[in-house]
Amino acid sequence: MSKECKNTILSLAEAYKDYFKIGAAVTVNDLQGMHGDLLKKHFNSLTAENAMKFGEIHPEEDRYDFEKPDKMKEFALNNNMKMRGHTFVWHNQTSNWLFVDKDGKEASRELVLERLKQHVKVVCDRYKDVVYAWDVVNEAIEDKNGEQYRDTKWRRILGEDYIKTVFEIVKEQDSKAALIYNDYNNEMPEKLEKSYTMLKEMLEKGAPIDGVGLQGHWNIRDKNLIENLRRSIERYASLGLKLQVTELDVSMFEFEDKRTEFKEPTSEMLALQELVYNDIFSVFREYKGLVTSVTFWGISDKYTWKDNFPVYGRKDWPMLFDVNGQPKASFDRVVNFK
Ligand code: GLA
Repeated sequence: MSKECKNTILSLAEAYKDYFKIGAAVTVNDLQGMHGDLLKKHFNSLTAENAMKFGEIHPEEDRYDFEKPDKMKEFALNNNMKMRGHTFVWHNQTSNWLFVDKDGKEASRELVLERLKQHVKVVCDRYKDVVYAWDVVNEAIEDKNGEQYRDTKWRRILGEDYIKTVFEIVKEQDSKAALIYNDYNNEMPEKLEKSYTMLKEMLEKGAPIDGVGLQGHWNIRDKNLIENLRRSIERYASLGLKLQVTELDVSMFEFEDKRTEFKEPTSEMLALQELVYNDIFSVFREYKGLVTSVTFWGISDKYTWKDNFPVYGRKDWPMLFDVNGQPKASFDRVVNFK
């Protein structure tokens, strides 16, 4: 291999073209500059980090805000990329008007359904040419107590079977895209079982669910991650479902670790991160055909939501590219495989 060739940085999307799509969650600012360049080179799928959430895209009953999602769509089309639609039904970042009727009382089931149908139709009509997967329902399983379902306005108003109903509504408007149930920690044993039971029941009732989204907000110290990941992929696949990793980042900190003294990642952190990235991508490759998309929740360490969660204002370094957009050792592990 010539020196020049050796120094050429491989493209992530290119390296994985026979496996699955490689995505990134983006803001409109990411479409230019350093992040824009990284997107064009390494990614073939975009998710709006916030701009397509209900509260952002449809802030008032008579007003949609398409400005940001339209820019993302244009960028995607110009660069031969597809998009993941994120998200229709979630308990966060959802407009309150949706649940209130004209007299200021809680809206009826009929009214919320009508509004949701209208919303889904408008959003699908505008974006379904570029969207290959929708996160139809996000985070509906309870994980703080023994309950199966999270208690949300959606569920209270639409009733027990709302997940099935919502999938049917989206299916009617977009029969081609993969319809995904998305959640966090749903590879961990307890939540996996709750999610499996819910999905099995909904599928038996005929809900058009195509796949499960594993958000993939992981960290460098979870000893059970690989085993959990493998088990969850197989368990969901046994229901005939595909898998998408929808919000991947590998934090330097476990959730309970609230230390704030680091100005940069230590070499130990970077080394552990390399191993985690190496191992998770080898599992993703192993399940080629089942795993259809892997999306990072961000692009580089320059900007990540982990800088403010779970510790506000603490820098984290969860991505494959560093704060200057340079590929980290983790990147090399992910692209260099046989
Ligand atoms: C959840 C949501 C995402 C995003 C992250 C945090 O995982 O699905 O849309 O809000 O939280 O940024």
